[in-house]
Amino acid sequence: MPLKPIPLRPVTPRPRRHSNSPLVVSRSVLKLGSLGFAGILALALLAPALGRAEPAIGRAQAVSAKNGMVAAQEALAARIGADILRKGGNAVDAAVAVGFAMAVTYPRAGNIGGGGFMVIHRAGGGDIAIDYRETAPQGIDEKSFLDAQGNADPKKSRDSALAIGVPGTVAGLALAEEKYGSGRFTLADLIAPAIALARDGIPIADDTADTLPVDRLRLARWPSSLKIFFKPDGQILTPGDRLVQADLANTLEAIAKSGPRAFYEGAVADKIAAAVQGAGGVMTVDDLKAYRAVERAPVRGSYRGYDIVSMAPPSSGGIVLIEMLNILEGYDLAHENAAQATFLMIEAMKRAYADRAVFLGDPDRVAIPVERLTSKSYAAAWRATIDPARATPARDIRAGGTLDTEGRNTTHFSIIDGSGNAVSNTYTLNFSYGVGLVAAGTGVLLNNELDDFAAKADAPNAYGLLGSTANAPAPGKRPLSSMSPTIVLKDGKPFLITGSPGGSVIITTVLQIVVDMIDRNMDIAAAVSAPRVHHQWLPDHVDADPGLAGELIAALQARGDAVATRRLPSSANSILVTPDGFVGAADPRTRGSLAAGF
Ligand code: DON
Repeated sequence: MPLKPIPLRPVTPRPRRHSNSPLVVSRSVLKLGSLGFAGILALALLAPALGRAEPAIGRAQAVSAKNGMVAAQEALAARIGADILRKGGNAVDAAVAVGFAMAVTYPRAGNIGGGGFMVIHRAGGGDIAIDYRETAPQGIDEKSFLDAQGNADPKKSRDSALAIGVPGTVAGLALAEEKYGSGRFTLADLIAPAIALARDGIPIADDTADTLPVDRLRLARWPSSLKIFFKPDGQILTPGDRLVQADLANTLEAIAKSGPRAFYEGAVADKIAAAVQGAGGVMTVDDLKAYRAVERAPVRGSYRGYDIVSMAPPSSGGIVLIEMLNILEGYDLAHENAAQATFLMIEAMKRAYADRAVFLGDPDRVAIPVERLTSKSYAAAWRATIDPARATPARDIRAGGTLDTEGRNTTHFSIIDGSGNAVSNTYTLNFSYGVGLVAAGTGVLLNNELDDFAAKADAPNAYGLLGSTANAPAPGKRPLSSMSPTIVLKDGKPFLITGSPGGSVIITTVLQIVVDMIDRNMDIAAAVSAPRVHHQWLPDHVDADPGLAGELIAALQARGDAVATRRLPSSANSILVTPDGFVGAADPRTRGSLAAGF
């Protein structure tokens, strides 16, 4: 694909009086399309958010340990992972155990009915990326998510069984274990804790108690889901009740006994295909049989002497993260004041997300100019379009239109073992509880991941993200993701393991954790807890977590950015490696998250 990346003319630097920066350039003169109605609509949607009071974010606890650490969004699963490390497992063994456990203990996003990405750093050298993203069934094409008038129909891509992608998690976790586990545990050993929790049940608490009432209507649409998440009287499970998942225990047992093919072929696959088709979807047993997790070369970059290792397409995460870091490397962020540093980050975000919309998709279907997009020279060209004193309007970066974003859920965990093997894993059902459908007889809650395709050019997905033909739906194709499991290395050894849920917000969350660690030298608990900002090119406004300093917001507004306060749906469970050992911090935004070390 020919790359014509930057529809902006570099601005000519010219000195201007400004309190924050010695070198300030004039605003670029830009002639691209106007946001028009979509822009006005975005602003109208934004207006109510502007004055809304949001609950403050708690403070993460820093947990120190010498021998191993798991930081995850759910405590039972984090402890299971730490236990595997304690028994001599490596970080991959622990990750596989946590991955299966969270399918039981964190049904909102932990899953075997969805997909995700795992980035591994091996202590002996070598970085690996496992792509276990869902694929579109063969029956999906570029018209699948349109209505009779040819417009994008979010009901089809978000709320119907057409949205269900072929799940990748079981294949991905099994591949990780087979190739990169320590060999001290069988897959069955690592699934065993999950089976016990599914069979015996777990108390409804923490995040599950918070989210089940909110998402109950998604689940209540199907009797198979009602049976599990509701009481006989039709009320949703609440604290004091237990979540017992006997069918899920049986499915996990089948995988433990016969390996991942027991999920993709035979009785379980038959039931999943029947459930999806019964609900109006198109997934077949052949789609399930054909699913494969694949290894990709991780995307690599550098930032101020650190190496960044992150997820490759079909996630946009690594490329967009490295593009933003490359742009920012040209500024002395450590010595900028907070408002100016945040402003520059936002300018970098706008530009990298504009590229995301145009160039990125499934690498098996579209040619992606990865090297160019992650090159220092490309970033320098973008940097030259940034006016340090004035926000560039999104329409001047590339024309388009979009709606507001919504928070949903995904889950990220970071793990390191005593030998220095590290795993950064993000997986998801897309929305909380996915499409809400449990495939009857399997206990498997299914995803609605296919909304991550661009149903139509300029029709935003649930996170307000736009896409192009590169990310159009097609049979067997993987939808573009923002999940960004990331490992930062210093001198070839892990320094930071991070990632987050949050749809479009994921990549900017990871950016801020990296900048907080490298430029600001913050402690990891403070960085994980800190209020964050987000800009995704369109809609053209900054989202700011509650608690961001009023003066900082005012400074962004003075430079021309519109700022809305809303709780960003991030949860950056991270681990920092220090000379004294590991420091884990689970994000206080999720109730029940835990860093467990030993
Ligand atoms: O792959 C993606 O980018 C999305 N499906 C992730 C969804 C997500 O993070 C929801 N979490 N809040």
